[in-house]
Amino acid sequence: MAVQISPSILSADFARLADEAAAVENTADWLHVDVMDNHFVPNLTLGLPVVASLLRATSLPLDCHLMIEDPDRWAPQYAEAGAGSVTFHVEAAQAPIRTARAIRAAGARAGMALKPATPVEPYEDMLPELDMLLVMTVEPGFGGQSFLDVTVPKIRRARDLIRRHGLQLWLQVDGGVSEETIERCAEAGADVFVAGSAVYGADDPAKAVQALRERAER
Ligand code: DX5
Ligand code: ZN
Repeated sequence: MAVQISPSILSADFARLADEAAAVENTADWLHVDVMDNHFVPNLTLGLPVVASLLRATSLPLDCHLMIEDPDRWAPQYAEAGAGSVTFHVEAAQAPIRTARAIRAAGARAGMALKPATPVEPYEDMLPELDMLLVMTVEPGFGGQSFLDVTVPKIRRARDLIRRHGLQLWLQVDGGVSEETIERCAEAGADVFVAGSAVYGADDPAKAVQALRERAER
């Protein structure tokens, strides 16, 4: 399991997104883009036009995390726009299997996210439809929240299911991931780590990415 780091631009300066992306271009694996619609979560961020501009502004692949209602309609459009990975919330999806297939058909990796209180077990049989499972480690909606330790057993259970089925899908964690908490996630089986404030709140975002990677690889 190779460690991958996906800095979240939610904690970046939205007026300087190209520069903020460039700051981590040499050390990060992905750029995590949080799309929020003020319905699925109580916050509003950005949508397809900004994603299209970001794609032109950075060489990093975009890891789009859709915290929106009606992902069945929107998720394939982010894939068509050129996102490398598109993750929708299962709590919002009407037809998660169809949506995952549509994302893949449009050429992106298909991710599915679980809020902290959403169990993984009901989705065991659809894991082969996914390229990534995202276990949220805070309630989605805002950057800078504290890591919820209560989610760690679910990371472990998700990794066990992935292993038991012999699947290749990645296991991502998002929320409160820092030098302090990343080892707990890695030990439980996560391999893709989103970090917003721990990267963009640091004096040197590129170094912060490296520091996180080193901790996760320990
Ligand atoms: C929260 C978002 C996260 C957020 C993480 O709902 O999905 O991607 O940017 O921020 P930190 O790392 O500061 O918790
Ligand atoms: Zn996110």
